[in-house]
Amino acid sequence: MMSKGCMIFAFFLLCTCAFAYDQKRFEEGEELFRRCIPCHGQYGNKQPMGKRDISRLPEKDISNILRDYALGKSEGAMNAQASLLDQQKIAALATYIASMKIKQGSEVFALRCSGCHGKDASKSAFGKSGKVSNLTEPELIRVLRNYQSGVYAHGSTANAMKGRAISLNDNEIDALARFVDTL
Ligand code: HEC
Ligand code: HEC
Repeated sequence: MMSKGCMIFAFFLLCTCAFAYDQKRFEEGEELFRRCIPCHGQYGNKQPMGKRDISRLPEKDISNILRDYALGKSEGAMNAQASLLDQQKIAALATYIASMKIKQGSEVFALRCSGCHGKDASKSAFGKSGKVSNLTEPELIRVLRNYQSGVYAHGSTANAMKGRAISLNDNEIDALARFVDTL
């Protein structure tokens, strides 16, 4: 029987290792992603040939799609790219790509929203707003669109928020919504 202290220590060690492993994989993915940027954009949301915004795809789908390109099961512009990737590189890329939008959202939030809504989005701005952290991805998108279009125009605080909403482009709204959904 392990003592309680020993179990806690083992658990701690496991978490630290898992974290270090994730971090390494993330960095490898970030490095590999540089060669994807010319076609898919810095945030992965440029859509080559009208295809999907890859930063919106779940990690598992990205892995499967890249593996199928690498094996030649799917054919197209990506075969040459994917043939350079082994399973480990594909996994690293998938981890990185899937986390990119959330990271971008957290950066936009820290810079342009946290001043009024709090670092973790749980403050009521001017005592007027609800907690942004309570909103889901589709809810945040809907609310920001409503501020942009002036549907919410009940006085000076709403106008202050309208200005903020209008300053956001579609990709930023998308990224913010993904991030807020994780809170
Ligand atoms: C030369 C331009 C180019 C480069 C570089 C490139 N891609 Fe692509 N990628 C495309 C095109 C074009 C498509 C749509 C392909 C098709 O239909 O065959 C695509 C499709 C994809 C898809 C599937 C999207 C979908 O809608 O199913 C993924 C995932 C992807 N690329 C990931 C990557 C990754 C990861 C890298 C870097 C290792 C990369 N691509 C590098 C052009 C590129
Ligand atoms: C200058 C302060 C300020 C900044 C900066 C700001 N907001 Fe707000 N926000 C407010 C105020 C005040 C309200 C309440 C407005 C009202 O009366 O409708 C609000 C309301 C909201 C709501 C509605 C929440 C609810 O459920 O009641 C959302 C969502 C929101 N803001 C998101 C954001 C995002 C995302 C950003 C960053 C791009 C941002 N805000 C930046 C002040 C701010």
